[in-house]
Amino acid sequence: MRKKIVAGNWKMNKTLEEANVLASEVKGMVEAEVKGNAIVILCTPSLFLLPVKNIVGNNTRIFVGAQNCSEHESGAYTGEISAAMLKSIGVPYVILGHSERRQYFGEDGALLAKKVDTVLKHSLTPIFCCGEPLEVRESNGHEALVKKQVEESLFHLDSSAVQKVVIAYEPVWAIGTGKTASAQQAQDMHAVIRKHLASKYGQDVADSISIIYGGSVSAANAKELFACPDVDGGLVGGASLKSRDFTEIAKSI
Ligand code: 13P
Repeated sequence: MRKKIVAGNWKMNKTLEEANVLASEVKGMVEAEVKGNAIVILCTPSLFLLPVKNIVGNNTRIFVGAQNCSEHESGAYTGEISAAMLKSIGVPYVILGHSERRQYFGEDGALLAKKVDTVLKHSLTPIFCCGEPLEVRESNGHEALVKKQVEESLFHLDSSAVQKVVIAYEPVWAIGTGKTASAQQAQDMHAVIRKHLASKYGQDVADSISIIYGGSVSAANAKELFACPDVDGGLVGGASLKSRDFTEIAKSI
């Protein structure tokens, strides 16, 4: 059965002290209140991965995740962080291809395919993001674009590798806007993604891949979104910065 996942993407927020407080609070609340077998991932700024990991400890439910990593193994890439470095400090998850990375840092499908390969090579789990901007949704091109994003960066993988990937569908128009996709819109796109995976890898493989939703997920809308059959959890931005809100979301799965 595929994993249920609630991941918080802290983006470029928090100081060390604030990060420590948030991680401690989330750990305490999740351990006390979140039942079931969903896993919780805290995707912190790179600088805070190690301290937050130390707070989380060797937890079987709560993990840390990076927000990006280099496609290169090592070398003269000033400012970059490698998959091997993440592995060496015990980080199991890495967000790749977030729309902010695509938009502000020019990451495209071919580059992301390389990043996916590098991350998998080091036995880390990529959380691969896809999603359409508003104008594409309005011109009804959203399904074609998201299918293309998935193809460009994942379809070179074999069946065993693709099953190690988590996919996050994040419509760009819903990110940080307070305007979430409706549960129906999320379900429809997740079903499209799963069907596309099935067309390439077969239904069993497609059914084993977690597809999570991101874009203005909140304590108020999480339950309805997570109740959709093809929505396996959430990638949460703003609401992950408050321990109470994030825990309520994690409890909704
Ligand atoms: P918000 O939850 O703030 O809309 O952000 C979503 C997101 O980008 C998670 O990666």
